[in-house]
Amino acid sequence: MTDKLRVAVLFGGRSGEHEVSLQSAAAVLANLDREAYEVMAIGIAKDGQWRLCPPGGGPWDERWWEDGQRVALLPIPAEGRLYLLDEGRFGPQVDVFIPILHGPMGEDGTIQGLFELAGAAYVGAGVTGSAVGMDKDIMKRVFQAAGLPTARHMTIRRKEWEEDPDGSAAKIAASIGFPCFVKPVALGSSVGVSMVRDKGELERAMALAGKYHHRILIEVSALPCQEVECAVLGNESPEASIVGEIVPGNQFYDYRAKYIDDNSQLIIPARLSPGVEEKVKELAVKAFQAIDCMGMARVDFFVRPDGSVLVNEINTIPGFTRISMYPKLWEASGLTFSQLLDRLIKLALEHHREKSRSTLFYEEDA
Ligand SMILES: Nc1ncnc2c1ncn2[C@@H]1O[C@H](COP(=O)(O)OP(=O)(O)O)[C@@H](O)[C@H]1O
Ligand SMILES: [Mg+2]
Repeated sequence: MTDKLRVAVLFGGRSGEHEVSLQSAAAVLANLDREAYEVMAIGIAKDGQWRLCPPGGGPWDERWWEDGQRVALLPIPAEGRLYLLDEGRFGPQVDVFIPILHGPMGEDGTIQGLFELAGAAYVGAGVTGSAVGMDKDIMKRVFQAAGLPTARHMTIRRKEWEEDPDGSAAKIAASIGFPCFVKPVALGSSVGVSMVRDKGELERAMALAGKYHHRILIEVSALPCQEVECAVLGNESPEASIVGEIVPGNQFYDYRAKYIDDNSQLIIPARLSPGVEEKVKELAVKAFQAIDCMGMARVDFFVRPDGSVLVNEINTIPGFTRISMYPKLWEASGLTFSQLLDRLIKLALEHHREKSRSTLFYEEDA
């Protein structure tokens, strides 16, 4: 028997960011302290099956998705015990789940809902924070309600665009104008995001965004701007890291610039005046609290040449690859990758305990 905490890293998933998740999870698995934790790796294949990687296995060895034992979390309070599907029985109890899943069905509250139903502790934001953070339209409305500055935006339903492209284009021209950015309401890694210079470019951009979501977000361009990012860590009293800057290799920080062309630069610390840096940190914590985030998040900003700051988005499961901003910013702030994971696991257990203090059922006041 072991008294080590059992942690399970979940990766892959059913989203356009499946491949990115594999890279993030490989780095997380490499940096988890094996003295402190018994580590399990669970791959979620594109068909949604959960597979337990053989010991020492991980996303780098894709045999898991054929050979790995099929496991499930059942939506009944089973304290995080995995159900072994082929054996038809419950298996080991997982003390903390670490979802390293980006995008829909991982970062959007769906899997967090399953953790809640299963009574399991897990790293990161809960159902509400995850769902709000994933929906760019609702996220921005929550930010605006909390007094946070964002680029002006509107949304158009895919169906509305398809039924009346001319009318929709006129609305976009009138209320947003050009250049603008067009994005699916929920995704990440710049999948489906286009910069649109004029009306003629709208059709292609709307069709692309509409491929990924039934609502399309159109937003005023913040260019020219610096793109800066701040990492947040904590539950009730979150802390902000130092601020980092992205210099995209392409016209904007698109999917290719992020993962394929390898031509973007990370500058830590960001080239900001002390006043603007403080502002960014303050806004990062406010954004985190506005959506009731827990554990971790990376908050992304645009800084305009006049020093004004716009919150672009919050990522509740930020990239965790070796070269990703989130672990790098904490490293630059004095926390190693392994220490960062220790903190996240502690925060998950802490919040799990905090939740258990709430009464589930109605009680007559004494
Ligand atoms: N309003 C905007 N002004 C300027 N650049 C933008 C704007 N919106 C998006 N971008 C560019 O597109 C990239 C991806 O957009 P973002 O909203 O961050 O989507 P994702 O969630 O896919 O990362 C940003 O990092 C930035 O380079
Ligand atoms: Mg982004």
